[in-house]
Amino acid sequence: MSADKVFAPGLLAGRVAFVAGGTSGINLAIALRMATLGARVHVLSRKAEKVAAAVAELQVHGDAAGSVADVRDFDAVAGAADECAKRFGPIDVVVSGAAGNFLASAADLSPKGFRTVIDIDLIGGFHVMKATYPHLRRPGASIINLSAVQSYTAIAQQVHACAAKAGLDSMIRALALEWGPEGIRLNSIAPGPVSDTEGMARLAPSDGHRDELTKNIPLGRWASKDDIANLAVFLASDASANISGTLLVSDGGYSTGRG
Ligand code: HXC
Repeated sequence: MSADKVFAPGLLAGRVAFVAGGTSGINLAIALRMATLGARVHVLSRKAEKVAAAVAELQVHGDAAGSVADVRDFDAVAGAADECAKRFGPIDVVVSGAAGNFLASAADLSPKGFRTVIDIDLIGGFHVMKATYPHLRRPGASIINLSAVQSYTAIAQQVHACAAKAGLDSMIRALALEWGPEGIRLNSIAPGPVSDTEGMARLAPSDGHRDELTKNIPLGRWASKDDIANLAVFLASDASANISGTLLVSDGGYSTGRG
């Protein structure tokens, strides 16, 4: 469903959104949804060609820019946040969604493999929040962290992702305490399976995997990227003005069904 059927056109007009990981998948869907609702969007990711393609797509809807930066490199992320603020002014919305994942049993996972996912998801998330902090609009900024149901539901072959996402969700609660008095809100979104994403292609590579997952979803379907983008728009908007330090789950009841 198009954004203007769900939200009032212009809902985010004049707002500035900084979207880490915003050049593909769920994060790009969020960036596009925000752009179509009037936000000026700055995206960042590791590959120059993906940044250029995403910025071109976003510019169809309004002013947009991008930076090439790996969230593991704090100075690069801080440079991107400086550029965003210089071009667009104070940042209203931060989406921290850069992530890496793969299926691996703990017995087969090397220490470096574990550390790599922690570096991208957890430490990278801290870098994004810390680098944007000096540029946030006060009061009024909303920081949206892309978590996953792995944060609170044990999933086999996901020890690295479970640890990283649980850490992130704990971190945003602590930051909600520290930064709340400045009028800054922090929340997480926890998707279950999401269609047409690199992540799910990695985590459910066969029809068997996909059928098994779907069988365990009470609503009987995977989320679309737009389902998650709608939740991000809600958290970016004044409709969520009194919500901070929470985890909003969009999984069709999957984790409820797992007990
Ligand atoms: C076991 C693996 C592995 C695999 C990598 N490693 N893939 N171990 N099974 N399938 C190990 C490597 O062996 C290596 O350790 C270490 O991880 C680092 O690997 P590199 O390839 O050198 O790292 P890097 O190039 O930085 O790549 C990061 C990556 C990669 C996360 C490992 O997969 C990547 O860039 N992915 C692209 C982004 C991505 O994953 N997107 C989907 C996100 S979905 P050794 O010891 O062997 O050297 C997502 C959804 C969230 O996150 C859902 C729940 C959280």
